[in-house]
Amino acid sequence: MKNIQLKDGINLSELSLGCMNLPLGDSNETKRIIGRALEAGITHFDTADLYQFGENEKAVGEALEKFRGDYNFTIGTKAGNEFDAARQEKIGWNPSASHIKEAVKQSLSRLGVEEIDLYQLHGGTIEDNKDETIGAFEDLKQEGLIRSYGISSIRPNVIDYYMEHSSISTLMMQFNPIDNRPLEILDSLNSDVTVLARGPVMKGLLSDNADKVLENKFADGVLEYSHPELHQTIRSLREVHSDLTALSYAFLHHHNAVVVNGVSSLSQLESNIDSYNRMPELSQDDLDKIMDAVKLMKYEAHRK
Ligand SMILES: NC(=O)c1ccc[n+]([C@@H]2O[C@H](COP(=O)([O-])OP(=O)(O)OC[C@H]3O[C@@H](n4cnc5c(N)ncnc54)[C@H](OP(=O)(O)O)[C@@H]3O)[C@@H](O)[C@H]2O)c1
Repeated sequence: MKNIQLKDGINLSELSLGCMNLPLGDSNETKRIIGRALEAGITHFDTADLYQFGENEKAVGEALEKFRGDYNFTIGTKAGNEFDAARQEKIGWNPSASHIKEAVKQSLSRLGVEEIDLYQLHGGTIEDNKDETIGAFEDLKQEGLIRSYGISSIRPNVIDYYMEHSSISTLMMQFNPIDNRPLEILDSLNSDVTVLARGPVMKGLLSDNADKVLENKFADGVLEYSHPELHQTIRSLREVHSDLTALSYAFLHHHNAVVVNGVSSLSQLESNIDSYNRMPELSQDDLDKIMDAVKLMKYEAHRK
């Protein structure tokens, strides 16, 4: 497994595990998924305080605990949302320094760690007091509570601000050949910022299950694609490479992204690991064919 080093010296496995959709109701399956991921060389685990209102962090921390002596792994989590865990309710967006500094204590405790490897702002708007938020992340780093920080955002104006005014090491965005809106943003990123690509299999659309997922989850199309257009795009992508997951990973590999893939079962993880191991080397001709098969898109909103 290739590792990608962040500017703060932290190594993330190129294929990382998105923990949002883990089957928390089945703690044995969740533990099997995490154990198998480590065994396959996946050493970065992405969660957030908001996922299942704190329960996701608890489950991930618990499952990883018993592997601590055997593997070096990193955990990324996120903050910025206020929620009521008892009522299982999101209250609202709050990127203030006081909230972030309180949230980190809760995340450390739920994860059972003394330091968070990668702490990310879970969104953000241009109206936020961004300097206050950045100050809070810098303070947490100084205090040794976090090793590195980043943002999860798809808003060009927010991204531009953080590029100029913060020392983020990562930017998380939904990114795959079909949702290729990040392509335009890549050019304006500081060279020491690593992209974390979430949604690499687009909820299963870029997998062996594409036909079923297309009918079940994308009956109305998605983004600028109608359902028939999506159908055609999947067919054209399959002509470039028959394993759509491997194709998406190879596309993201070409763009030096860390792939943050979510799974809800062990069999999905097994299939994704196989695809990672079968990832093709893409020629310029392949890349051109991918771009011919998809629509080149950009984020239209949040630009000023
Ligand atoms: N704003 C943010 O910061 C943000 C937002 C979203 C996600 N994330 C993070 O990014 C991670 C990944 O994002 P994502 O879950 O949206 O995207 P994803 O990884 O592309 O999709 C995960 C889902 O795709 C399906 N899937 C995965 N592997 C499959 C396979 N081999 N065959 C068929 N279906 C498969 C599963 O859906 P089913 O469960 O329906 O079978 C799985 O739950 C999340 O786990 C989370 O950690 C962050």
